[in-house]
Amino acid sequence: MRQDDERGGPSAPLPPFHDDLVAAQAELWRLLADGVAHGRSPFHTPSLATVDGQGRPRARTVVLRMVDAEAGLLRFHCDRRSDKAAELARHASCALHAYDRQAKVQIRIEGRASLHTFDATAEAAWAGSRAMSRVCYGIDPRPGTGLAAGGAYAVPDEAEAPTVGRPNFCAVAVEAEALDFLYLDRRGHRRAAWRRERDGWTGTWLVP
Ligand SMILES: Cc1cc2nc3c(=O)[nH]c(=O)nc-3n(C[C@H](O)[C@H](O)[C@H](O)COP(=O)(O)O)c2cc1C
Repeated sequence: MRQDDERGGPSAPLPPFHDDLVAAQAELWRLLADGVAHGRSPFHTPSLATVDGQGRPRARTVVLRMVDAEAGLLRFHCDRRSDKAAELARHASCALHAYDRQAKVQIRIEGRASLHTFDATAEAAWAGSRAMSRVCYGIDPRPGTGLAAGGAYAVPDEAEAPTVGRPNFCAVAVEAEALDFLYLDRRGHRRAAWRRERDGWTGTWLVP
């Protein structure tokens, strides 16, 4: 860890979660919820890692749409014709990662994804989506198709999105199974991790 990535001069108070495992997990969920609400937060756009059919890792950016700290759930949206949807349908294990340079916090989440296309979860997520987001799901041909020219694809207008885009819309719920929280401070980095057990989260401090 580089020196300029570390905050905490001698006079700056240590954050309340510095030596409090419960508070550290609360901070993790608070930062994720802030990421859902605010596009400026790095936690708004985490990297999602999946595993492809050959067991190779694949990563890309997604927009974090919802977190539920009580249930340990996160949600993002994608096109059900996309590679990531196919990879998650085949192999539900996935990971989300983001680093907030201002907060000096890295969050890593491992869990299992479930794809929602035509159930109540998907309907509610579609209803809560903005028109400019909805049109993306009507893109033709499917995401990842090779093109003869960069612009040789079509996007529906907003009026068509409910009929053209809705069938391709997929809400992905990730049930977190493991959480990893790293806070950088030159007076002492702190790393905490939790695993989901039958009765809730079991956490421990780790060597950073
Ligand atoms: C800032 C940003 C936000 C993005 N948000 C999403 C998203 O919420 N859902 C999504 O499917 N793709 C999103 N993308 C595009 C993906 O990162 C990726 O390029 C695309 O979905 C194809 O990924 P795949 O082939 O792994 O399915 C976003 C990209 C950027 C740069």
